[in-house]
Amino acid sequence: MQNQISHHTNHTLAAGTRKVWLLLIAILPAFFSGCGKTTRTPETSQLGYTSDKAMVVSAHPDATRIGLEVLRKGGNAFDAAIATQLALAVAFPAAGNLGGGGFLVYRSADGSIGSLDYREMAPAAATEKMYQDAQGEVIEDLSLSGHLASGVPGSVAGMYETHQKFGKLSWSELVQPAIDLARSGVVLTQKEAAGLNNNRSRFIEYNKHRPYLAATTIWSAGDTLKHPDLARTLERIRDKGRDGFYKGETADLIVKEMQRGNGIITHQDLENYTSEWRQPVVGKYKNYKIISMGPPSSGGVALLQLLTMVEPYNLSKYGWQSSEAIQLMVEAERRAYADRAAYLGDPDFVKVPVTQLLDPEYLKDRMKSVDLARATTSVEIKEGALPVYESEQTTHLSIVDAAGNAVSVTTTLNGSYGSKVVVEGAGFLLNNEMDDFSVKPGSPNMYGLVGGKANAIAPGKRMLSSMTPTILEKDGKLFMVVGTPGGSTIITSVYQAILNVTEHNMTMQQAVAAPRFHHQWLPDEIQHEPKAISPEVRAVLQSRGYKLQERGTYGRIDAILILPNGKLEGGADPRGDDSAMGY
Ligand code: DON
Repeated sequence: MQNQISHHTNHTLAAGTRKVWLLLIAILPAFFSGCGKTTRTPETSQLGYTSDKAMVVSAHPDATRIGLEVLRKGGNAFDAAIATQLALAVAFPAAGNLGGGGFLVYRSADGSIGSLDYREMAPAAATEKMYQDAQGEVIEDLSLSGHLASGVPGSVAGMYETHQKFGKLSWSELVQPAIDLARSGVVLTQKEAAGLNNNRSRFIEYNKHRPYLAATTIWSAGDTLKHPDLARTLERIRDKGRDGFYKGETADLIVKEMQRGNGIITHQDLENYTSEWRQPVVGKYKNYKIISMGPPSSGGVALLQLLTMVEPYNLSKYGWQSSEAIQLMVEAERRAYADRAAYLGDPDFVKVPVTQLLDPEYLKDRMKSVDLARATTSVEIKEGALPVYESEQTTHLSIVDAAGNAVSVTTTLNGSYGSKVVVEGAGFLLNNEMDDFSVKPGSPNMYGLVGGKANAIAPGKRMLSSMTPTILEKDGKLFMVVGTPGGSTIITSVYQAILNVTEHNMTMQQAVAAPRFHHQWLPDEIQHEPKAISPEVRAVLQSRGYKLQERGTYGRIDAILILPNGKLEGGADPRGDDSAMGY
């Protein structure tokens, strides 16, 4: 934002007048967008923060700064991703984590690509119906809050594995900044203070001890939150690597915490946890190559399906947020999410027909029933029949280093502050990722997503994700690094960010900030942010049979675009405290 403001500043103004102008420039767009009458057509002149060679974009300025310092010290994009993630575990406890999991997609400067899956795994004692009562009804909240909601965390294993393979600086150099931050404390922003206060009663309800996140006072912006237990946990991780988390004192504290609630994670589960290098899913959209996360995330497959389904249509001619563009994108979304519910799951447990799902002929066929005169209804849509198919509050960071290595990471506790359970003595929150499994066939999870056999719970299995850390090449060169939180809306947010740039000529910052819409097959409605669709277009869509549901803003896209002159442009989502920094 700061960069945009200075971009517009008239430097001849006297200091006082200038202040008033700065203030006006800062608040006017919010004022106009608050009127709700018109959809703002994006202007292509507005660049986000730009830098010459290297950039970090993340959800918290302290984490972004720590990542940038690692790059300046000679660390590569992988080193910076590790340090940024660890710093987010301190500075952004709603989603940054040690007790969760995530996915990393990379494209090295030499063009080689890969991805690391450090998604949580179901504990050995998990069973398919563990969240159902004797009558087969889903027990409310059990997969969402408290000790039983957690999968075995993967983040520390993932970061350590990344360092083993790609690290340039020493492991301890990457962990130390997070330790220092945990000790000195983090100055709370308004959003964080509100997040902690809103969850205070839940922290108290789901913990046997009084967790430090719910200290006796109400948090205000500007308060400093220190994390002494977390600092000690990070020191064990600094000194012992992954064993500092999965064995010894930290593991003891996790298992003890499990025993205090009704948790089932054991020492054996922790020791057995592994992250996995997997082939990313790769596809083409026009002259862009899309590199994204494959199963156990549905993100990459669904994103590629979406882009392939709309590729034959001239979206840019229809125009941004025109009724036709929205309809085409929504109809593709309806179909991709129906496939997701039926076919996607952990590839170590179920056969996921990735090739068939991405077959252009199959996707062309899926779009044949689209009629721009009227909405398809979701009851008409089932998953596609595939040939030869046998049987059956998250955070994103984008980094490019001076050598041209790119890393795209999305990591999560699932819900905001995960299960709300803080491991006593260890100072970190545990995830509630078990809710991402299909706890009962057809029963919607916290994001309204349904699923079946492919995503049923089994010991050691990874729950299906929507996280979509993605990298784009254009004409063989690095073009974009992108991703976001937002549960089921992650996939459609990344989809819109990509199309906003490639079809609608937006800058990265505009593409990230532009209001969004979302359809996920079920429920059969277009959910949209308040300013995403103009009243005129809403009326057209309604007349064609679409149900519209306005909702609050969602997603925090953090992205980097490589500009034609080789400079980098950051897109830091104004919906959060996100920031871009570089050199
Ligand atoms: O893996 C998933 O798809 C979800 N657990 C992500 C949750 C999320 O994005 C929450 N943030 N808003």
